Amino acid sequence: MRPSPDCSLCSLCRERTRIVLPDGDPSSGVVFVGEAPGETEDLTGRPFVGRSGKLMERMMSEEGVSRSDVLITNTVKCRPPGNRDPTPEEMVACRPFLDSEICGSRVVVGLGRSACRDLAGYEGRMKDIVNTRMTIKAGGRDIAFIPTFHPAACIYSRESREAFRMTIRMIKREFL
Ligand code: URA
Repeated sequence: MRPSPDCSLCSLCRERTRIVLPDGDPSSGVVFVGEAPGETEDLTGRPFVGRSGKLMERMMSEEGVSRSDVLITNTVKCRPPGNRDPTPEEMVACRPFLDSEICGSRVVVGLGRSACRDLAGYEGRMKDIVNTRMTIKAGGRDIAFIPTFHPAACIYSRESREAFRMTIRMIKREFL
């Protein structure tokens, strides 16, 4: 299930350039969920192609995983103005699309606070849950959920980069 090209289910439609649809392999069973498209994503229509996306791709490839080995998506498919966090209302409006992307998967990786709030209802600090095993429901099924740092948080923090690498190793070992 995808948003229509003229989707106006929430107010993000007013300032977006493009809707940013998932990228990668939907049959991999592994879905990475970020927060929302940024400027580069809004211009290109592809998720995680800006600065944090390039770092994510590099950290993945250093562990022998390519972005085309997994499905990469966001909680909302349109860029929030000024890169603010998406609101709960915007996430709810976009949720049917996210649900359809994750409902057949074996594992979902929640990239950062917004994804963990939207998918697991988690409101605390990321460092308390990173790389723990959780379960979420989508399409009436239980799906494994692994929270990790958002790649943007890895830009300036070696600790976060190390934790992110651990996430990729877990995914590679158990799900790819
Ligand atoms: N940050 C996100 O959360 N998603 C993107 O697609 C790009 C940057």
